[in-house]
Amino acid sequence: MAPRFSHRPVLLDESLALLALRPHAVVVDGTVGGGEHAAAILESIGPDGRLIALDLDTAALEAAEQRLRPFGDRVELIHASFRDLGRILVEIGVPQVDAVLLDLGVSSHQLDQPGRGFRFAEDSADRTPLDMRMDQQGPTTAADLLGSASVDELARIFREFGDLRGARRLARAIGEARRRAPLRTTRELLDVIDAARVGGGRRHHPATRVFQALRIAVNDELAALEEGLESAIDALRAGGRLAVLAYHSAEDRIVKNRIRDAVRGCFCPPRTPICICGGAVRLRGLTRRPVVPTPDEVRANPRSRSARLRGAERVVAAV
Ligand SMILES: C[S@@+](CC[C@H](N)C(=O)[O-])C[C@H]1O[C@@H](n2cnc3c(N)ncnc32)[C@H](O)[C@@H]1O
Repeated sequence: MAPRFSHRPVLLDESLALLALRPHAVVVDGTVGGGEHAAAILESIGPDGRLIALDLDTAALEAAEQRLRPFGDRVELIHASFRDLGRILVEIGVPQVDAVLLDLGVSSHQLDQPGRGFRFAEDSADRTPLDMRMDQQGPTTAADLLGSASVDELARIFREFGDLRGARRLARAIGEARRRAPLRTTRELLDVIDAARVGGGRRHHPATRVFQALRIAVNDELAALEEGLESAIDALRAGGRLAVLAYHSAEDRIVKNRIRDAVRGCFCPPRTPICICGGAVRLRGLTRRPVVPTPDEVRANPRSRSARLRGAERVVAAV
C-alpha cells in the first residue's frame, strides 16, 4: 500500500488572511500537494466557491483527490505546472480569478519517499535512484542531468541554486567520476561529494545544498516561478489576491522582485516628464516584509523554518 500522504500546511492562517477569501470566490491553488491549504480555502469560499488545483506530481493529486472528496465538484484537480496557468484557464473557460496561492518547492511527502530521490538518507542511499522529478513523467532525472550537463553548467547549478562553496571542484569531480561510470544512485553522488570535500564550515551537510541545487535544475523551478507569477498576476481580477510561500532565498528573491516591479509599474528614468516605458502599476504590495512562521510553528513543524510568505493585490492601472 502507498504510504499515507503527510504534509503539514505552512503558515496556513497567515496565507488565508492574505488571500482575503469571500464566499463564491474562484481560487487557484497552483501547488495543491496533499490538499491541506486547499481544504481550508474551500471551507472559506463556501458551497458556491470554486477551486482550480494544480500539481505536477500525480501522487500528490491522488492524495488531494481523497482529501478534497467531501467538497465534490467544487474542486477541479489538474495535472499541470503553474507556469501554464494562463493556458489552463483559457482551456477551462475561466477568464479571471479572485485569488492565487503558490506554496513552492517539495512536500514533506515527496521528501519522505526514498524512491523519489529528493533526499539523501544514508541507510537507503544504495537503492535510491537519482531521480528528483516532481512530475513523474518529466523528461530529465537528476541522473540524466549529472550525465549530460557540461562541467561549467554543473558548476553554475551548484553555485547559483545551492550557494555551494567549491561548486567548480564538485563539478570537475563529477566530470571525472562519470567518465568511469554513470552516477545512478544517491550513494554514488554522496561518495563524489565526500571525496571532493566541498561546502566546508557550513552548518548543513554539503549534500543538502547539492541536492537542493539539482532539484531546482531538474524541475526548472526558478523559470517556472517567473512564468507562474506572471500568469497569476494576469489572471487576477482587480482586487484579487496573490500569496506565495517560498522556502529558499533564490525563490524568495524572485517573488520579492516580481511584486516590487509590478507595484512600481513605470521604469522610466527619474525626471522623465511623461512615462515613455508604457509600464503600468499592476499590484499593491500587502507584505512590506515577508511573513515568517512563529517559533511555535517551527517547533511543531521544523520544515516550516525557512518559509517566507509574501502577498499582493491586483490593481487595474488608470488609463
Ligand atoms: C509545499 S508542497 C504544497 C503543499 C500544499 N500546500 C498542502 O497543503 O499540502 C508543494 C507542491 O507543489 C508541487 N509543485 C512544485 N512545483 C510546481 C509547479 N511548477 N507546478 C505545479 N505544482 C508544483 C509539488 O509537486 C508539491 O506537491
